[in-house]
Amino acid sequence: MSSHASRFLKWSLLFGLTLGVSATAETTLWRDPAQPADVRAEALVQAMTQDEKLQLVFGQFGSVQKRPAFYPAVEARMGSAGYVPGIARLGIPPQWITDAGLGVATQRQSAAPYRERTALPGSIAAAASFDPAMAYRGGAMIGAEARASGFNVMLGGGIDLLREPRGGRNFEYAGEDPLLAASVVGAAIAGIQSNGIISTIKHFAFNAQETGRMVASADIADSAARMSDLLAFELAIEKGKPGAAMCAYNRVNTVYACESDYLLTTVLKNDWRYRGYVMSDWGAVHSTEKAANAGLDQESAYTFDAKPFFGAPLRQAVIEGKVPQARLDDMARRIAYAMFATGLYDNPVAEAPIDFEASRKVAQAAAEGGIVLLKNAGVLPLTSSVKHIVVIGSHADKGVMSGGGSSTVFPQGVNAVPGIGPQGWPGPVVFLPSSPLAALKSALPGATVEYLDGADAKAAAAAAAKADLAIVFASQWSTEDADHDLNLPDGLDDLIAAVAAANAKTVVVLQNGGPVLMPWLDKAAGVVEAWFPGAGGGEAIARVLTGAVDASGRLPVTFPASLAQLAHPALPGTDANGKPFAIEYTEGAAVGYKWFAKNRSTPLFPFGFGLSYTHFSYGKPSVATKDGRLTVTFDVTNTGKRAGAAVPQIYVGPAAGADAAQWEAPFRLAGWGKAVLQPGETRAFSVSVDPRLLARFDSAARAWTVSGGTYTVSLGASAADFRQTASVHVDAALYAVDSFAKQ
Ligand code: GLC
Repeated sequence: MSSHASRFLKWSLLFGLTLGVSATAETTLWRDPAQPADVRAEALVQAMTQDEKLQLVFGQFGSVQKRPAFYPAVEARMGSAGYVPGIARLGIPPQWITDAGLGVATQRQSAAPYRERTALPGSIAAAASFDPAMAYRGGAMIGAEARASGFNVMLGGGIDLLREPRGGRNFEYAGEDPLLAASVVGAAIAGIQSNGIISTIKHFAFNAQETGRMVASADIADSAARMSDLLAFELAIEKGKPGAAMCAYNRVNTVYACESDYLLTTVLKNDWRYRGYVMSDWGAVHSTEKAANAGLDQESAYTFDAKPFFGAPLRQAVIEGKVPQARLDDMARRIAYAMFATGLYDNPVAEAPIDFEASRKVAQAAAEGGIVLLKNAGVLPLTSSVKHIVVIGSHADKGVMSGGGSSTVFPQGVNAVPGIGPQGWPGPVVFLPSSPLAALKSALPGATVEYLDGADAKAAAAAAAKADLAIVFASQWSTEDADHDLNLPDGLDDLIAAVAAANAKTVVVLQNGGPVLMPWLDKAAGVVEAWFPGAGGGEAIARVLTGAVDASGRLPVTFPASLAQLAHPALPGTDANGKPFAIEYTEGAAVGYKWFAKNRSTPLFPFGFGLSYTHFSYGKPSVATKDGRLTVTFDVTNTGKRAGAAVPQIYVGPAAGADAAQWEAPFRLAGWGKAVLQPGETRAFSVSVDPRLLARFDSAARAWTVSGGTYTVSLGASAADFRQTASVHVDAALYAVDSFAKQ
């Protein structure tokens, strides 16, 4: 707590007692919404009994759990992720906890009725939109549905950097660049919390793959960590101010994340001055005093752990002095602070009606903004001249695919295509009832649009041969708790090749969670990356394919041409058979496009890439510096015949005199713009560059250091397509590690 708050509180208590005012009037300061959150939190903790503090930091699962047979308190919202009883005496509501970053999920361990709610597109689509304002709107929508479903804690904010293209949860994260990920996830967190509920940011840190997630050790040097994954968390916390952070399952440099003093105390609470609380992931706690003293503040769903570590064992540890009383007080204070700072305490949740059509429109807009046009050899957008289309595969007649695991949101009707994939955890494969076929039919009333399921490649090819154009929907399911390879499954590569051989005008629409290999790329006339497109995905895909809206997504992740190009060609831990193993992140901060640039290798599609239906020219950027911060201004002109979305990107890197040899890569993304320009329109953009993007982190000095010299500022359409460059001199500078914390 800030010294101001504790001084203020002590004086007010002293003043109150001196005046003979009853202690309760002063010591119920926490009920006064006019008081700062830290003052209220201090007052509340001082009013708590030891039992109440211990209750607050000890979470339950929100549903029936088979192992051991465990039924949460009746107050829990059955089918939910978590529950912590409230303290009515102090006005503290229960913590009703729901997954996750894509909407209100239902945990299938219970026999509870499914909560049929609205699914956003995968978070990777939010990153592909390069549109924090849209990400905010998406967060605000799912947070409103959480509140109206009786939840006041939402486990959103997935932001682990996409280091592993085969990662099963890449669809829940925001790509490979720290600044882009932080901009969209920070905005999404702010959107969720705009409903007066707490959002998490997760999984802190380096949960980049699912293989061995409970036993792997992500090993990386402090400096590289600070300039990559930790920078994503740091910037997102500054932008979104999440009430809670969730520590990850894996180990970092051999220490479990939920008992890592380095992660939870040194980095998060000291260097970043984080005032919220750290909750564990479900089953991520392995000790009492080690975890508590490292900075864990709440054990989530204790029945997922080998045994309870908080609750009675924590009480005993405090009695024995193994965990200082001050640490327990700090745990309770942090939870209280988050409740006050987000409005949770003053705005009790209550179940309420939901406007699902309004929600669906938000999800559709988010999908439209994130769909990436990867190839277009004159076949898109579809126009009324196309009279006969055959649509093939991926249940496109019924809906669009969602990702699996704890973030799965069940739609109205629970599943448009039931019975696919594992029916237990982490399945089932859920299709959302937003049919691309139906949407295409209504968008092209003059065309005959037929559908084949694609099971028979020969029949599909024969149908394609008779049509003007073929659209193959190719889906790859990905999920928490399992990684995957980069090849499309179920013979889809052969299906695409057969259809494309029968009709040169073949468009492939991908529904998946990250990069895929495309052996048929030279045979397809068009390729669209739709990710897992959410509750309005079918309509969004149709609107982009028909040009009702421009394709405005850009890749938030590099699509490699082969596994050999990756920093880890073999998926780490594949043969570990459940035994602990290390993932040596020797590439350091050179994640994604930085790795490709450093090694001068050419990917299938680069970071930041995406086509529009129009074309743009880029003016020469001008660069101003003030107090170490660069401001880059430039113009972009729509040189085409139709409106379209420009997403100009700014990359910076050291040139003469600066410490290029020390950088992880030749350049870094430093900012971007996004705007729809009319034909012929020129728009001015301005990008302000955070000093940390010009700096390296010096672990010995515990500071960000900018070396003086000349830097190159590049204006591009992707990380591999720079259109203009400018040079700027930057003075040497040093920023203490905690000098950016605004908490
Ligand atoms: C899961 C996930 C986490 C989720 C939690 C509750 O295993 O790792 O993201 O929020 O447990 O379901």
